[in-house]
Amino acid sequence: MNSLKRVIIFGATSAIAEQTARQLVAQGASLFCVGRNQQKLDGVLEDLRVRAGQNQCIDGVAADLTDNGKHEELVNAAEAFLGSIDGVLIAHGTLPDQQACQDDAAVALREIETNALSVISLLTFLANRLEQQRRGVIGVISSVAGDRGRQSNYVYGAAKGMVSLFLQGLRNRLAKSGVDVVTVKPGFVDTPMTASFEKSGPLWARPEQIASGIIKAMEKGRGVVYLPWFWAGIMLVIKLIPETIFKRLSL
Ligand SMILES: NC(=O)c1ccc[n+]([C@@H]2O[C@H](COP(=O)([O-])OP(=O)(O)OC[C@H]3O[C@@H](n4cnc5c(N)ncnc54)[C@H](OP(=O)(O)O)[C@@H]3O)[C@@H](O)[C@H]2O)c1
Repeated sequence: MNSLKRVIIFGATSAIAEQTARQLVAQGASLFCVGRNQQKLDGVLEDLRVRAGQNQCIDGVAADLTDNGKHEELVNAAEAFLGSIDGVLIAHGTLPDQQACQDDAAVALREIETNALSVISLLTFLANRLEQQRRGVIGVISSVAGDRGRQSNYVYGAAKGMVSLFLQGLRNRLAKSGVDVVTVKPGFVDTPMTASFEKSGPLWARPEQIASGIIKAMEKGRGVVYLPWFWAGIMLVIKLIPETIFKRLSL
């Protein structure tokens, strides 16, 4: 079991990350939070400080995580604040307009930069740091969208698929150092990211449900976790559909 007492959260203003932060604080954790928007981050930090006990420390900094040149500095600042690192959650992301990505390669590449390359850059610093201390857990929010390319969102899917595959290799490497790497694959979650979606039906989950799944998976050091669990079955079926049939579907 990994004890999540000192945790860094990247993308801390995300709805899923904020719920995860609240649950971690309720368990007694100290947190270092990185979010893009200073005002939103201040609100999150203020809320977490109210929930925290006297011996818990909560702080953070604002940063655009596509600024890869700042990643090492961010990891250093987090480690200096927390003393050492028990866990890291990487949660930032954007859901692109697929049509805009099809019309303009620059838009597609920017989405790949945010959803994949910035994550890989951060993971490179974090992996080396945790490998040195020979303990800890890294959780990254990927997506079921990374399991198979679909016409409706294959740019986002390609970015998440890249992250999932990178994590697979990283997990394999860090297992030798006692560091766990958890790939989190949520299905549909009711957050600002999906604000424009019709949200009826049993497939939609609340961010707090996903948050408790993330914490359990990180504590247990699980490899890949679908949240909620039934997405593992859905994605198995989707992956098994032969390409000749898949091409005719409007997924
Ligand atoms: N919602 C779903 O259905 C769903 C499903 C599968 C996976 N996911 C993944 O879950 C994660 C959390 O998303 P969410 O659903 O909680 O949505 P959300 O509330 O919209 O959170 C997305 C967060 O990413 C941050 N962000 C985007 N670009 C950034 C950048 N360049 N630098 C720093 N932060 C940046 C946003 O910051 P700002 O506040 O500054 O915009 C926002 O806080 C994402 O990785 C997403 O891809 C979501």
